[in-house]
Amino acid sequence: MNALLKPLEMAFRPMRLADIDALIKIERASYPYPWTLGNFRDCLDSGYSCWVGEIDGALAGYWILMMAAGEGHILNCCVAPAWQGRGFGRALVENLIDTARHHVTEALYLEVRPSNTRAVTLYQHLGFDGIALRRNYYPADQGREDALVMRMLL
Ligand SMILES: CC(C)(COP(=O)(O)OP(=O)(O)OC[C@H]1O[C@@H](n2cnc3c(N)ncnc32)[C@H](O)[C@@H]1OP(=O)(O)O)[C@@H](O)C(=O)NCCC(=O)NCCS
Repeated sequence: MNALLKPLEMAFRPMRLADIDALIKIERASYPYPWTLGNFRDCLDSGYSCWVGEIDGALAGYWILMMAAGEGHILNCCVAPAWQGRGFGRALVENLIDTARHHVTEALYLEVRPSNTRAVTLYQHLGFDGIALRRNYYPADQGREDALVMRMLL
Protein backbone atom coordinates (compact mmCIF):
# COMPACT_ATOMS: atom_id res chain seq x y z
CA MET A 1 0.00 0.00 0.00
CA ASN A 2 1.20 3.53 -0.75
CA ALA A 3 2.31 5.06 2.57
CA LEU A 4 0.93 8.44 1.41
CA LEU A 5 -2.60 7.01 1.51
CA LYS A 6 -2.68 6.61 5.30
CA PRO A 7 -6.35 6.52 6.40
CA LEU A 8 -7.61 9.50 8.39
CA GLU A 9 -8.10 8.86 12.10
CA MET A 10 -11.46 9.90 13.53
CA ALA A 11 -11.98 10.19 17.27
CA PHE A 12 -14.76 11.47 19.50
CA ARG A 13 -14.45 12.87 23.03
CA PRO A 14 -16.41 15.04 25.48
CA MET A 15 -16.20 18.79 24.79
CA ARG A 16 -14.05 20.93 27.08
CA LEU A 17 -14.23 24.61 27.97
CA ALA A 18 -10.86 25.04 26.24
CA ASP A 19 -12.44 23.90 22.93
CA ILE A 20 -14.87 26.81 22.74
CA ASP A 21 -12.65 29.28 20.85
CA ALA A 22 -12.09 26.73 18.09
CA LEU A 23 -15.77 25.72 18.12
CA ILE A 24 -16.89 29.31 17.67
CA LYS A 25 -14.78 29.59 14.51
CA ILE A 26 -16.41 26.48 13.03
CA GLU A 27 -19.86 27.65 14.17
CA ARG A 28 -19.47 31.09 12.54
CA ALA A 29 -18.20 29.57 9.30
CA SER A 30 -21.04 27.04 9.17
CA TYR A 31 -24.26 28.83 10.12
CA PRO A 32 -25.85 32.06 8.89
CA TYR A 33 -27.06 32.68 12.46
CA PRO A 34 -24.35 31.13 14.67
CA TRP A 35 -24.42 30.41 18.38
CA THR A 36 -22.44 32.66 20.70
CA LEU A 37 -19.65 31.70 23.02
CA GLY A 38 -22.18 32.01 25.85
CA ASN A 39 -24.46 29.41 24.23
CA PHE A 40 -21.66 26.83 24.28
CA ARG A 41 -20.69 27.72 27.83
CA ASP A 42 -24.30 27.44 29.01
CA CYS A 43 -24.60 23.98 27.48
CA LEU A 44 -21.45 22.80 29.26
CA ASP A 45 -22.56 24.42 32.54
CA SER A 46 -26.00 22.82 32.24
CA GLY A 47 -24.47 19.36 31.98
CA TYR A 48 -25.78 18.67 28.50
CA SER A 49 -24.03 15.95 26.57
CA CYS A 50 -21.46 17.91 24.52
CA TRP A 51 -19.00 16.07 22.29
CA VAL A 52 -16.44 16.93 19.67
CA GLY A 53 -15.13 14.93 16.75
CA GLU A 54 -11.51 15.13 15.67
CA ILE A 55 -9.82 14.14 12.44
CA ASP A 56 -6.13 13.41 12.78
CA GLY A 57 -6.17 15.26 16.11
CA ALA A 58 -7.80 18.46 14.80
CA LEU A 59 -11.27 19.57 15.83
CA ALA A 60 -13.62 18.86 12.90
CA GLY A 61 -17.15 18.82 14.34
CA TYR A 62 -19.34 18.72 17.43
CA TRP A 63 -22.76 17.86 18.72
CA ILE A 64 -24.83 18.88 21.75
CA LEU A 65 -27.69 16.85 23.18
CA MET A 66 -30.08 17.74 25.99
CA MET A 67 -31.57 14.69 27.71
CA ALA A 68 -34.57 14.49 30.01
CA ALA A 69 -37.35 12.03 30.83
CA GLY A 70 -36.12 9.38 28.41
CA GLU A 71 -35.96 11.79 25.48
CA GLY A 72 -33.04 13.51 23.80
CA HIS A 73 -33.11 16.84 21.96
CA ILE A 74 -30.26 17.59 19.58
CA LEU A 75 -29.40 21.26 20.07
CA ASN A 76 -26.47 21.52 17.68
CA CYS A 77 -24.62 19.30 15.26
CA CYS A 78 -21.97 20.74 13.01
CA VAL A 79 -19.07 19.75 10.79
CA ALA A 80 -16.28 22.21 9.92
CA PRO A 81 -16.71 23.47 6.33
CA ALA A 82 -13.47 21.82 5.16
CA TRP A 83 -14.87 18.42 6.15
CA GLN A 84 -18.48 18.83 5.03
CA GLY A 85 -19.83 16.49 2.37
CA ARG A 86 -17.16 13.86 3.06
CA GLY A 87 -19.00 11.47 5.35
CA PHE A 88 -17.93 12.99 8.68
CA GLY A 89 -21.44 14.25 9.48
CA ARG A 90 -22.75 10.72 9.29
CA ALA A 91 -19.97 9.51 11.64
CA LEU A 92 -20.71 12.38 14.03
CA VAL A 93 -24.46 11.68 14.21
CA GLU A 94 -23.80 7.93 14.58
CA ASN A 95 -21.56 8.79 17.55
CA LEU A 96 -24.38 10.94 18.97
CA ILE A 97 -26.92 8.12 18.58
CA ASP A 98 -24.58 5.52 20.15
CA THR A 99 -23.89 7.84 23.09
CA ALA A 100 -27.56 8.73 23.52
CA ARG A 101 -28.62 5.07 23.66
CA HIS A 102 -26.94 4.75 27.08
CA HIS A 103 -29.38 7.28 28.59
CA VAL A 104 -32.25 7.95 26.18
CA THR A 105 -34.90 5.25 26.11
CA GLU A 106 -37.74 6.78 24.09
CA ALA A 107 -36.77 9.05 21.22
CA LEU A 108 -34.38 11.64 19.82
CA TYR A 109 -35.74 14.94 18.47
CA LEU A 110 -34.25 17.77 16.44
CA GLU A 111 -35.24 20.84 14.47
CA VAL A 112 -33.75 21.60 11.07
CA ARG A 113 -34.34 24.15 8.32
CA PRO A 114 -36.21 22.39 5.48
CA SER A 115 -33.87 24.26 3.10
CA ASN A 116 -30.88 22.46 4.69
CA THR A 117 -31.20 19.48 2.35
CA ARG A 118 -27.87 17.93 3.31
CA ALA A 119 -28.79 17.85 6.99
CA VAL A 120 -32.35 16.62 6.31
CA THR A 121 -30.98 13.83 4.07
CA LEU A 122 -28.41 12.85 6.67
CA TYR A 123 -31.02 12.57 9.42
CA GLN A 124 -33.43 10.66 7.17
CA HIS A 125 -30.72 8.19 6.18
CA LEU A 126 -29.97 7.57 9.86
CA GLY A 127 -33.61 6.84 10.76
CA PHE A 128 -35.18 10.18 11.66
CA ASP A 129 -38.66 11.00 10.32
CA GLY A 130 -40.22 14.42 9.85
CA ILE A 131 -43.14 14.67 12.27
CA ALA A 132 -44.14 18.36 12.35
CA LEU A 133 -43.39 21.90 11.24
CA ARG A 134 -42.76 24.76 13.64
CA ARG A 135 -43.92 27.86 11.81
CA ASN A 136 -41.58 30.86 11.53
CA TYR A 137 -39.06 29.27 13.87
CA TYR A 138 -35.74 30.45 12.44
CA PRO A 139 -34.52 33.91 11.46
CA ALA A 140 -33.93 34.12 7.72
CA ASP A 141 -32.71 36.67 5.17
CA GLN A 142 -36.28 37.49 4.25
CA GLY A 143 -38.37 37.14 7.38
CA ARG A 144 -38.49 33.76 9.08
CA GLU A 145 -38.16 30.11 8.06
CA ASP A 146 -40.13 27.14 9.40
CA ALA A 147 -38.40 24.35 11.28
CA LEU A 148 -38.92 20.72 10.37
CA VAL A 149 -39.19 18.66 13.58
CA MET A 150 -37.66 15.22 13.17
CA ARG A 151 -37.83 12.24 15.51
CA MET A 152 -36.05 8.94 15.80
CA LEU A 153 -37.72 6.31 17.97
CA LEU A 154 -35.18 4.24 19.91
C1 LIG B 1 -25.36 18.99 7.99
C2 LIG B 1 -23.97 18.44 8.27
C3 LIG B 1 -23.83 18.09 9.75
C4 LIG B 1 -23.79 17.14 7.45
O1 LIG B 1 -22.49 16.66 7.63
P1 LIG B 1 -21.58 16.35 6.33
O2 LIG B 1 -20.30 15.82 6.81
O3 LIG B 1 -21.53 17.55 5.49
O4 LIG B 1 -22.46 15.23 5.61
P2 LIG B 1 -22.02 13.79 5.07
O5 LIG B 1 -20.91 13.96 4.08
O6 LIG B 1 -21.77 12.87 6.22
O7 LIG B 1 -23.32 13.38 4.29
C5 LIG B 1 -24.48 13.08 5.00
C6 LIG B 1 -25.54 12.55 4.08
O8 LIG B 1 -26.10 13.63 3.32
C7 LIG B 1 -26.05 13.31 1.92
N1 LIG B 1 -25.66 14.54 1.25
C8 LIG B 1 -24.41 15.06 1.16
N2 LIG B 1 -24.46 16.23 0.52
C9 LIG B 1 -25.75 16.45 0.20
C10 LIG B 1 -26.45 17.50 -0.47
N3 LIG B 1 -25.78 18.58 -0.93
N4 LIG B 1 -27.80 17.40 -0.60
C11 LIG B 1 -28.46 16.33 -0.13
N5 LIG B 1 -27.85 15.30 0.52
C12 LIG B 1 -26.52 15.37 0.67
C13 LIG B 1 -25.00 12.25 1.78
O9 LIG B 1 -25.34 11.36 0.71
C14 LIG B 1 -25.01 11.54 3.10
O10 LIG B 1 -25.92 10.48 3.15
P3 LIG B 1 -25.32 8.97 3.24
O11 LIG B 1 -24.28 8.98 4.34
O12 LIG B 1 -26.50 8.14 3.59
O13 LIG B 1 -24.74 8.73 1.88
C15 LIG B 1 -22.85 19.44 7.82
O14 LIG B 1 -22.95 19.68 6.42
C16 LIG B 1 -22.89 20.76 8.56
O15 LIG B 1 -22.35 20.86 9.65
N6 LIG B 1 -23.54 21.80 7.98
C17 LIG B 1 -23.57 23.14 8.59
C18 LIG B 1 -24.28 23.14 9.94
C19 LIG B 1 -25.62 22.46 9.86
O16 LIG B 1 -26.39 22.72 8.95
N7 LIG B 1 -25.89 21.58 10.85
C20 LIG B 1 -27.15 20.88 10.96
C21 LIG B 1 -28.16 21.70 11.69
S1 LIG B 1 -29.66 20.80 12.00
